[in-house]
Amino acid sequence: MSSISIRTPHLADRPLIAKVLEDAFEAPDEAQLVQSLIDGNNVVLELIALLDGVIAGHILFSRLRVEGNTVFEAVALAPLSVAPEHQGKGIGSALIKAAHEQLIAAGETLAVVLGDPGYYGRFGYTREQALGFTSPYQGEYLQAQAFGDAPTSGTLIYAPAFGAL
Ligand SMILES: CC(C)(COP(=O)(O)OP(=O)(O)OC[C@H]1O[C@@H](n2cnc3c(N)ncnc32)[C@H](O)[C@@H]1OP(=O)(O)O)[C@@H](O)C(=O)NCCC(=O)NCCS
Repeated sequence: MSSISIRTPHLADRPLIAKVLEDAFEAPDEAQLVQSLIDGNNVVLELIALLDGVIAGHILFSRLRVEGNTVFEAVALAPLSVAPEHQGKGIGSALIKAAHEQLIAAGETLAVVLGDPGYYGRFGYTREQALGFTSPYQGEYLQAQAFGDAPTSGTLIYAPAFGAL
């Protein structure tokens, strides 16, 4: 039986992580985004999933500022990728759940994602939680979830790397 394990990536994993991203998105943009987030020191949490010891999935949360009367530090989930040949095996779900556990343990209280509500709704993200935020991404795909006390309004300021997308 196949086993999924999850860990923090090492430098030597970079080429295989880039391949998973490029294969999953069928484009180089998300792999470049990941490298730019790393270069910009904007990564809050990055995890990889190994299926029987082989890198099959990747998730990254970057720092996201919510600017209102004060500035609140939140996290943005992007990108999430699973190698096409290993999709539908629970790897994406395992990555999100493991990442959320680590984020909560680290004291993070607000996560935002731009993606399919049919998928991210499984992991606690809702449109309702994101409705009050000001963002160029505001719309049916913007979702959020609070793990604790967190603002429900303010302007979402993503890491500069997202501007290149
Ligand atoms: C989206 C993605 C990360 C999911 O990872 P995965 O390991 O295949 O997902 P899991 O095995 O944990 O979950 C699969 C379930 O999610 C569902 N699902 C997958 N993508 C979905 C989507 N876009 N909308 C709704 N449901 C989706 C599947 O139908 C499946 O449902 P089931 O459990 O009822 O059979 C993966 O398909 C992927 O890398 N896709 C290409 C890149 C991408 O789109 N990333 C997300 C960007 S926001």
